[in-house]
Amino acid sequence: MIQFSKISATVHYTPEKKVTNDDLSQIMDTSDEWIRTRTGIANRHIATSENTSDLCTKVAQLLLEKSNTPADKLDFILVASMTPDYAMPSTASLVQGNIGASNAFALDVSAACSGFIYALTLADKLICSNAYRKGLVIGGEVISKILNWNDRSTAVLFGDGAGGVLLTADKKPYILAEELQTDGTRWSALTAGELPLHSPYSPSPFKEVNPYLQMAGREIFDFAIRDIPKNIIATLKKAKLDVADVDYYLLHQANVRIIDKIAKKLGTPRLKFLTNIEKYGNTSAASIPILLDEAVAKGTLILGSGQKVMLTGFGGGLTWGSVLLSI
Ligand code: ACO
Repeated sequence: MIQFSKISATVHYTPEKKVTNDDLSQIMDTSDEWIRTRTGIANRHIATSENTSDLCTKVAQLLLEKSNTPADKLDFILVASMTPDYAMPSTASLVQGNIGASNAFALDVSAACSGFIYALTLADKLICSNAYRKGLVIGGEVISKILNWNDRSTAVLFGDGAGGVLLTADKKPYILAEELQTDGTRWSALTAGELPLHSPYSPSPFKEVNPYLQMAGREIFDFAIRDIPKNIIATLKKAKLDVADVDYYLLHQANVRIIDKIAKKLGTPRLKFLTNIEKYGNTSAASIPILLDEAVAKGTLILGSGQKVMLTGFGGGLTWGSVLLSI
């Protein structure tokens, strides 16, 4: 029997501490007015004691509870993150151990802010291969640990959080098309956490590296408004659908002005583009699953309704991509 994958449950979790723009203006030279007008961000959540695996474990536990799924029934756990607890073990391994998913293999996906889209696509393929029936796909980040808190041009943009979905096998296709893209020639526009060579066999002095997130903001802005509409059109073409056939667009929440411009370029009502960047800032791989879960919780999106939903991510790599759902 041919099997397809279906999103059976959605959840999200954010650390308790909220930090407003005014809070930030107490510790750096910025203002609520600058941050709101340039980005649409008003608040973000910042982890004070939880690491990425803690946020992702919470998401995994909530998904199991919500769907009444015993942990040992999971076949895989994929975690998308650019802020893992360790280079090794993977964050997914930590989550697998924490929830006791003894029959699941666990794997991290590193594709920055496109991570959830990449992981969801891979998970869909795992299920469509008929080899696996059930898995968790989680996007989780504690970006606050890789921010340079003395750099106002990046520190104000990001927030911590996690979101995820339970993906299960079904007879009907719910994922209609996807289109993943990478341009490694533009990698230097967004970087963090370089691990330099330092063995006795490397030439000294060793290269000095900046461990913090660095971003060519304008370049990323231009990349998003140029390449994302094309990616969305290419995804729709694969499903033989048109821009107007999509009920809702859930784009990576990096900047509300990017979303405004993409809506305009596609000639689609801005109301179809859901946003929550105001509350969370840019949570990288977590932004799309958090937005998805909030839309399901509000009743804007109804699982099993057949609404057409476009999920689109973009970020470091450079990576970008879309998944078109009949949710
Ligand atoms: N508060 C006050 N002033 C600031 C701040 C701040 N937090 N940050 C920068 N400024 C100042 C700058 O110093 C500059 O001042 P100057 O003109 O005197 O030199 C001025 O504001 C304008 O700065 P720009 O960088 O030109 O501002 P811009 O309008 O381009 O907005 C922004 C910057 C918000 C970063 C924008 O370029 C952007 O959103 N880019 C895309 C970012 C993005 O999408 N990132 C995430 C994608 S990938 C991922 O999610 C990991």
